[in-house]
Amino acid sequence: MSTDSPLPGGPPLPGGDGEVTGPRAAWPAEAIRDAVVPLLPGLTVEILPEIDSTNSELMRRARYGRAEPVLLVAEHQSAGRGRLGRVWLSGQRGAALSSLTFSLGVPLAPADWSGLSLAVGVSLAESLHQSIRLKWPNDLWFDDRKLAGVLIETASFGEGSGARRYAVIGIGINIAAREAAGMARPPAALRELLPGVQAGEVFSRVAVPLVQAVSAFERFGFAPFQARFNARDALRDRAVALSDGTTGTAHGTSDAGALLVHTADGMKTVTSSEVSVRPAG
Ligand code: BTN
Repeated sequence: MSTDSPLPGGPPLPGGDGEVTGPRAAWPAEAIRDAVVPLLPGLTVEILPEIDSTNSELMRRARYGRAEPVLLVAEHQSAGRGRLGRVWLSGQRGAALSSLTFSLGVPLAPADWSGLSLAVGVSLAESLHQSIRLKWPNDLWFDDRKLAGVLIETASFGEGSGARRYAVIGIGINIAAREAAGMARPPAALRELLPGVQAGEVFSRVAVPLVQAVSAFERFGFAPFQARFNARDALRDRAVALSDGTTGTAHGTSDAGALLVHTADGMKTVTSSEVSVRPAG
């Protein structure tokens, strides 16, 4: 475990312009490691004050052959990444934490990878609040606004027939409201649902169930998550538009986690596309 984890009672942060003030996050790293190790032997929990991106760091490590299980938290990311090449913005370095940003790196060998991001979303939503909905394929929503996002990447490691895959599951959760300049809808923040919650508490809530969910996904695939996803599906029965221009009505997920969209040409199975909710009318 990293020895530079900021612990309760550690030095206060220098003042910053962030919207959130309060004590530096306390990271329950040891408790989480102890709870997860029986499931994932050798797992370490690392807390870094700053890095470019927790996903980038674990992908770099994997490329150098380091494919051990790890939960890597960054208090600040200087180059956080979202899906489709987007930037993931979090608070300024030196400001109190307005988001939780971390990645789980784990060797993984599911029979079928389809639906992993949905299973991760189900786990996060269930760990956090009953009012959180899931927007296929990677987002958590509250009140039709984005609360959290998931970015999954994989790298191969090992040689020849022994080659295996290392999954890097990156998660960014908005904890406190932040500026929404240029955004159509301001993002949601977890404190709207859990007033006063701190990043360390959120990490504590989500980390162990996440590892359990990924382990269940590896063994059983998307099946144990399908009904749970559908119960929180933010798009269900809503008019949607796909990035290729197709429009229709969202109809839940297939057994493999694809989005089913009822279109003028019949039911379409969507496996990779941007989906937006069409404004009513
Ligand atoms: C998305 O909404 O497009 C996915 C956002 C994922 C952000 C997280 S923050 C931790 C990890 N590190 C990154 O650079 N990205 C993911």
